Amino acid sequence: MADLRVPTLRWAEPPEGPVLLLLDQTRLPSEEVELTVTDVPGLVAAIQSLAVRGAPVLGVAGAYGVALAAARGFDVREAARSLAEARPTAVNLGYGVARAVAAYEAAGGAGEAAAAAALAEARALHREEVEDSERMAALGRGLLGELLPGGRYRLLTHCNTGALVSVGGGTAFAVARAAHRAGELRRLWVDETRPLLQGARLTAWEAAREGMPYTVQVDGAAGSLFAAGEVDAVVVGADRIAADGAVANKIGTYGLAVLARHHGVPFVVVAPVSTVDLGTPEGAAIRIEQRPGHEVTELAPGVPVAPVGAQAYNPAFDVTPPELVTALVTERGVVAPVDHGGLAEVCSRSRSY
Ligand code: MRU
Repeated sequence: MADLRVPTLRWAEPPEGPVLLLLDQTRLPSEEVELTVTDVPGLVAAIQSLAVRGAPVLGVAGAYGVALAAARGFDVREAARSLAEARPTAVNLGYGVARAVAAYEAAGGAGEAAAAAALAEARALHREEVEDSERMAALGRGLLGELLPGGRYRLLTHCNTGALVSVGGGTAFAVARAAHRAGELRRLWVDETRPLLQGARLTAWEAAREGMPYTVQVDGAAGSLFAAGEVDAVVVGADRIAADGAVANKIGTYGLAVLARHHGVPFVVVAPVSTVDLGTPEGAAIRIEQRPGHEVTELAPGVPVAPVGAQAYNPAFDVTPPELVTALVTERGVVAPVDHGGLAEVCSRSRSY
């Protein structure tokens, strides 16, 4: 379960009309402030500014975005198109949008009943997301117990994969938290995750609230940590997993996978089946979001860390080849090795829990 004072995302129906309320992640950890979204351009802006971010919650936000457009009488198909295109890499966004649109169309494609169907579908996805988080946490903790018998292990994680990327407990962070609650986590190493510091700002915030033993480090410190024998396993999330098992996740993930392999440490990906994209054949076909250079050349707006005019390379994600992934933990089971056969099989399982 998520334990946030302010939920990551919620639907509300004040007298002025339905709204989507988002915990503004750009303001964390300093302030817990909700952003009120009343229309689709507002939601697209919140997604692009990373006020709401992380693969699973993007799916839920996309579905509610369609419901919002329908409830407020906007053009639902146009809304769906702009939501699905707001960020290109996380497949969950398009998945959530498509589910709500399908429900809307199946209920007639116009009017109150169709709007109610889109909202019901968004709510169903919301509920599933919570359940899936709990299931991944349990399965992931079980897997770590097998890989690292004896417990008291040290995990390294990258970016943010907890309650903030989810309406439930999250993915990789939820596994670390389950391990902590079971007394099995000795330390969580938190990569700060340049340039937008999702690790330092968000994962550390979640870990602190949970009372977990954690340490923030600059991304470049990971190699020396492995060399010192301080990492027992890496746990990360994913934004899209291609049919061959290649994993797109926050920039820097691939480097950790190479380090893990070099040092003989398990590299575990935790993601719901909705992040698996069997329609994308291989990692090279995954579209990687390129973000503005100022995110690299400034620490914050107006705080430069590079000369004026410096060019910056700022891909938001990288792709880890499947041979570097020890296992994928989904809500429907663990896939190892991570290959097309294993992914197709886990995707074909029913959500029977
Ligand atoms: O750019 P962001 O902050 O949306 O990137 C998020 C990540 O890369 C997460 O690791 C990923 O979404 C997995 S969380 C389930």
